[in-house]
Amino acid sequence: MDDTGPSEPGRTDAGRGESGRGISRREFAKAAVAIGGASALSACLGRSGGPPDVPTGPDDLSTLPARQHAWNQYLERDKHGNVTAPRHRVLLLLDYTGDGTPSESERQTVEDSLRGLDRAYARGGDGLLFTVGYSPSYFERFDADLPESVDLQEPRALAPFEDPELDQQDAVVHLASDHAEVVLSAEQALLGEKSEINGVEVAADLSGVLEKVDRRTGFIGEGLPADNQDVDGIPDSGPVDSDSPLYMGFKSGFQKNQASEDSVTIQQGPFAGGTTHQLSKIKLNLEQWYEQDSRSQRVGKMFCPVHAEEDLVEGAGDNLGDSAKMEEKGCPAHAEDHARTRGMVGHSQKSARARKDGAPLMLRRDFDSTDDGHAGLHFVSLQRTISDFVDTREAMNGEDLAERSAVGQKNNNGILQYMEVLRRGNFLLPPREKRALPTPDGS
Ligand code: HEM
Repeated sequence: MDDTGPSEPGRTDAGRGESGRGISRREFAKAAVAIGGASALSACLGRSGGPPDVPTGPDDLSTLPARQHAWNQYLERDKHGNVTAPRHRVLLLLDYTGDGTPSESERQTVEDSLRGLDRAYARGGDGLLFTVGYSPSYFERFDADLPESVDLQEPRALAPFEDPELDQQDAVVHLASDHAEVVLSAEQALLGEKSEINGVEVAADLSGVLEKVDRRTGFIGEGLPADNQDVDGIPDSGPVDSDSPLYMGFKSGFQKNQASEDSVTIQQGPFAGGTTHQLSKIKLNLEQWYEQDSRSQRVGKMFCPVHAEEDLVEGAGDNLGDSAKMEEKGCPAHAEDHARTRGMVGHSQKSARARKDGAPLMLRRDFDSTDDGHAGLHFVSLQRTISDFVDTREAMNGEDLAERSAVGQKNNNGILQYMEVLRRGNFLLPPREKRALPTPDGS
């Protein structure tokens, strides 16, 4: 794929086609994922001169990990050892179409469709990574309850200043790849719009058992936010630097600021090997962030005031290595002191107060989005229990700090002022062998 060219799918939302120039390969791929469907896929394939050269999955599926969320072993790491997040994403929210509880044959259909993806693409950024999760609403149709070893709560507002819509769809599929064509093809195979992907025949699809009720898309990684900043919520000056993997200008997901896959895994009971999946749809409003706040204020609000004072962050923060230097700089322990004396507290600093035994509780797999023509972020996080998420979010809210200092409920209180949670949903990601329409007792 060359760097400029026709802008078929980009015209509608990348916007930049309007200037008359072609759009870059990255913008094109993002726009195709955001639009979706057969025409976006064929435009994408046409532009790149055919499907990307992607390895197929194993013949023996028993070689795949028991955990659906075992992604890290397949992903590249940067020079500091940080996991490189897959660049293109699709989230499909699905409802069960049947009455009552799912039948064995429906379960088999779902498993066969997922096995189609397992076979068609090798796991990895160069191939495909995916998970499927189920909501509390899904489990309500059964007489039995989920076991005590699973903490899956109904989603709810988690701050006095938010009023999110609640995601009560039955299931969520998260598709991730470095190739836009791969997430689009996988999606179409699941929805029954394509029977062969990457040269592999898929025996079944979800249609008739699970129907799509919402579709969310996005991207993460160097260059993509800058290429796609021509949306509402970001100043027209185009302030996002090309080295930033996220709209807010900084890198996230440092190795030492993420929970490990082991630590978020459910240890006991029928869903041992699974985890919980929290999903928030967040709207970003970055006008003030970029037009009024200085670079130093942005560093202070995102990381910690010490990081601003000592000028610790260069560019997007790659120089920090494998850690955002929270404990190293004593930031979490000084949150209250900073709120009182500096009148500002950092997002990372506050969130790190929720750590247990020195390690974060959540494994974040979030990404930026242009859904609805507005800059946003789909916050996907994995944690052993939904309570771990709630506790971390409470630490991030910093209400305790606002009460005891000049820091406002949102102002100078990390990045709360720049984000609005529009939707929240909670899901259980069962282990792989129970990923198809599970029963609450895992039988
Ligand atoms: C709105 C967009 C958000 C952006 C751009 C963002 C960005 C960041 C950045 C740059 C860091 C510092 C280091 C790192 O990630 O390795 C961080 C840390 C963190 N953020 Fe966020 N974040 C966002 C939203 C959230 C939300 C909604 C939560 C939910 C509670 C959250 C929880 C955390 C946690 C737990 C940490 C790590 C704290 C630790 O080191 O223990 N973030 N975030």
